Amino acid sequence: MTPIDVGVLISGRGSNLQAILDAIAADELAAQVRVVISNRPKAAGLQRAAAAGVPTQFIGHRQFPDRESFDGALVEALRAAQVSWVVLAGFMRILTPVFLDAFPNRVVNIHPALLPAFPGVDAQTQALAYGVRVTGCTVHLVNEGVDTGPILAQVAVPVLQDDDHDSLAARILEQEHRLLVETLQRIALAGLTIDQPPESGGRPKVRFGSGP
Ligand code: GRF
Repeated sequence: MTPIDVGVLISGRGSNLQAILDAIAADELAAQVRVVISNRPKAAGLQRAAAAGVPTQFIGHRQFPDRESFDGALVEALRAAQVSWVVLAGFMRILTPVFLDAFPNRVVNIHPALLPAFPGVDAQTQALAYGVRVTGCTVHLVNEGVDTGPILAQVAVPVLQDDDHDSLAARILEQEHRLLVETLQRIALAGLTIDQPPESGGRPKVRFGSGP
């Protein structure tokens, strides 16, 4: 089986990136990370990538006049690295069609809530403020909305009585690492098929595997 070629976009800590790198090293994920790109020069994830021998690049969004030209530079770098899948692992920028059309149905994001609940920034604070008893994490394909793309996989995580942001975020993060790796492995092993909704409406549905 041929490993999938992945580019990872980050903005910070990079613990999900680390989970991917560790799973590859342990032969639990049939992938190769071809490049890690950060829009922040000091993102800790850049060191994690370098330590694993993965090429890194800093592409600062402030160097570009608009989102489209920033996205164009990302696409160029990812194409140069010959990636076929892109993973957003804590990447804090919204992507435009310039990017999404270059990798149609090939951009995967990890979000720390059970979408469609609590999209956008600081999903853990949103969950605590709402008072839900269960939250979790979601791996989904990226579309033009904020955390609105087709859902690939989810895991529920309990909210405990004494939770604060950090304790809840840590409990979710543990599951994020597992879910992201598992989902990428399912993609690597089986591929993904997108079923478009009927004309009467609905959302595209994704399933692992190929064919009807
Ligand atoms: C994770 O909680 C992820 O779900 C969210 O951003 C955070 C990134 O963490 N999109 P890390 O950089 O992977 O440690």
